[in-house]
Amino acid sequence: MATSSPVPSSAAASTQDDTALAPVLTPGGWRLLNAVGASLGAAGYRESEALALSTRLRAEGHAPELVSAVLTQLKFRTQAAAKLGPFAANMLFTRAGLEQATRMNVAALHAGRFASAGVRSVADLGCGIGADAMALAALDLQVTAVERDETVAAAATINLMPFPNATVVGADAVQWLAAMDGAPGAAGDAAGSASGAAGEARPEGFWLDPARRMVSSSGSARVFDPEAFSPPLSFVERLAETGAPVGVKLGPALPHASVPAGCEAQWVSVAGSLTEAVLWFNALARPRVRRSALVLGGGEAGPAELSSAADFGDSPTVDVAGVQGLTGYLYEPDPAVIRAGLVADLIDREFSGSGGRLLDEHIAYFCADSARDSRFATGYRVLDVMPYKVKGLRRWVKETGVTRLDIKKRGVDVTPEELRRLLMSGQGKSGKGSGRHTTLVLTRIGEDRVAVEVEPLP
Ligand SMILES: C[S@@+](CC[C@H](N)C(=O)[O-])C[C@H]1O[C@@H](n2cnc3c(N)ncnc32)[C@H](O)[C@@H]1O
Repeated sequence: MATSSPVPSSAAASTQDDTALAPVLTPGGWRLLNAVGASLGAAGYRESEALALSTRLRAEGHAPELVSAVLTQLKFRTQAAAKLGPFAANMLFTRAGLEQATRMNVAALHAGRFASAGVRSVADLGCGIGADAMALAALDLQVTAVERDETVAAAATINLMPFPNATVVGADAVQWLAAMDGAPGAAGDAAGSASGAAGEARPEGFWLDPARRMVSSSGSARVFDPEAFSPPLSFVERLAETGAPVGVKLGPALPHASVPAGCEAQWVSVAGSLTEAVLWFNALARPRVRRSALVLGGGEAGPAELSSAADFGDSPTVDVAGVQGLTGYLYEPDPAVIRAGLVADLIDREFSGSGGRLLDEHIAYFCADSARDSRFATGYRVLDVMPYKVKGLRRWVKETGVTRLDIKKRGVDVTPEELRRLLMSGQGKSGKGSGRHTTLVLTRIGEDRVAVEVEPLP
């Protein structure tokens, strides 16, 4: 790994948060971090042992700031293992950098897209602590990872150290690129922060994972307007207009209206949780794919993808059955399928032979006449359909001896925990009762509010 802006020896505190890295960036600090990490074994950092560990390290004569930084990094490494696997044990983090880092299995898919398109060099514009950049570098692509936050760039420098084909640049990515392209005025502005950009070979492709949090002195808040991201979506679009292969990771709530024409939009879920929307431009966009849902299993299950060449809103026509259609089996599509606007496509492709039907055109639940195993939807057998009225449901809970109730909902304004408390009061423990355990699905169908008792399919 090369760095065009050396690891700052005084990287005191990140501007993203208050993580102090400087103490572990000294040779002695780095050795202590890794030695203590190795001594913790597979269990890693445990809060319950932190005080004893801190007391021992201080008694051994280590400075309080170093002990604190070592413990913080060990905690982050242990937390990061869920996202980054064994790589985490040798990495450095800031709190925000870890929160924002892409999971390694998803980063590998991002990187694979560049490799499959034959792209050989990529600039990661806003690389954070470098999870995506590591995945790109691991596929032997030439990576330039640009990060404007000094402390985060220092962490990325350490994390990309095993890769001789990666370079970290501490700079504002917009200015760095402008300086590289020789934009009038840019070199002067960027001279301090983007040294080395002008005259460097332009990377073939670009990856961006813009920051979606606004940091201020009073904390940080999530932003949803793509123009408030850093860098903003319009910057990404301008970059794509040059014809370069560009990929950008955005929040999964990205409105369809914000998806530029001509790119491929892919929503990704991992173990049923929506993680991101990615826009792929030019050589990275697949022919005949305008939008897709990529579903990754939590464990061994490989990826499964549902896609459509048609634009948003242009899906096959499927039956809309209303309350009368609420029989047989109820399905809840994976959130990536819902966000990609592919529910009707799913019914058409996988459930048309078994009477697949929407209940309401604005609600994502659908029904079919038979049980079917699908990677794109979770199925339930319909047991009972009742009006959604608290009084009646309380009676039903009592009469049928429900002691444990799971509640799912779509299209009705209710907090499941509050409703469960209301329905279960006087029914013994709502958590682990010994009586009947069942599931209630609340939804809206036209003007009707219904409560459906269901049994999950195995
Ligand atoms: C969401 S994080 C990237 C996470 C990264 N993909 C990973 O997997 O670790 C976004 C990063 O972009 C950086 N950033 C935002 N605007 C930038 C800019 N104009 N130039 C350089 N870095 C920028 C932020 O400091 C932040 O660390």
